[in-house]
Amino acid sequence: MRHLMNPLDFTVEELDRLFDLAEDIAANPSKYAHACAGKKLATCFYEPSTRTRLSFEAAMLNLGGSVLGFSDAASSSASKGESVSDTIRIISCYADICAMRHPKEGAPMVAASRSGIPVINAGDGGHQHPTQTLTDLLTIRSLKGRLGGFTIGLCGDLKFGRTVHSLIAALLRYPDIRFVFISPPELKVPDYITDQLREQGVDYEEVIRLEDSIADLDLLYMTRVQRERFFNEEDYVRLKDFYILNNEKMALARKDMLVLHPLPRVNEISVEVDDDPRAVYFKQAQYGVYVRMALILTLLEITV
Ligand code: CP
Repeated sequence: MRHLMNPLDFTVEELDRLFDLAEDIAANPSKYAHACAGKKLATCFYEPSTRTRLSFEAAMLNLGGSVLGFSDAASSSASKGESVSDTIRIISCYADICAMRHPKEGAPMVAASRSGIPVINAGDGGHQHPTQTLTDLLTIRSLKGRLGGFTIGLCGDLKFGRTVHSLIAALLRYPDIRFVFISPPELKVPDYITDQLREQGVDYEEVIRLEDSIADLDLLYMTRVQRERFFNEEDYVRLKDFYILNNEKMALARKDMLVLHPLPRVNEISVEVDDDPRAVYFKQAQYGVYVRMALILTLLEITV
């Protein structure tokens, strides 16, 4: 039995197969419409979510399976003190596969160690968000035609943003990638990541102003300042609008630069940018359904 805790749990070759499957699902949805008939997905979300939970549920429904679960710790027996270990043992009696989001780093890993069914980490604290990374990689591969050979700017909250940490780790396995980290000093990418980049001889730079580097980018990955991870509100208020991508800044970018964002957005991308063909963050959310369908099939070892 296999779980997904970290994007690196899959080899590059396994990811290629997963993305091939996701692209086939996108092209031939009816072929997969009954692939999971009789199977159940449990979504155990101890933290708020729109995209991840609903795209997992849409994925299972598109595959002909069923879904059950909870979207709030307060409506589960966690509110009475039940441990994640006990909860997953119970969920294993009710479902065939589980997607879990939890505010505590490592909680889905603890669940996996006690689970009788595959567990997917749907985001754990500020740590990892592997299915968002699969979504990001599939979006880049499908729209750019390759994974590798580009300069990617990651902008915003690079300290607390788990999507950023997962994406950097995943991209490090592809050739010829240059990173530009764009953040205020308080929200810099953690030292353990820059240490790893230096050890591996990967090209990166850290800048503060988006305007200074946007013209060099093939991909711009915008992120939200993570209010829920700040220790005090004053710091959040000071930093929340540090970056606002608007048409004026987009005018400085390459004609084929793509703008990604894991969403939700707050103010960091002005709505006027949504009509720019380079803004692909809503397409990215659709790719998230295809890749989660491919992941469910893969972890349940179902072939069509
Ligand atoms: N991208 C993402 O994780 O969105 P949600 O928090 O809405 O699931």
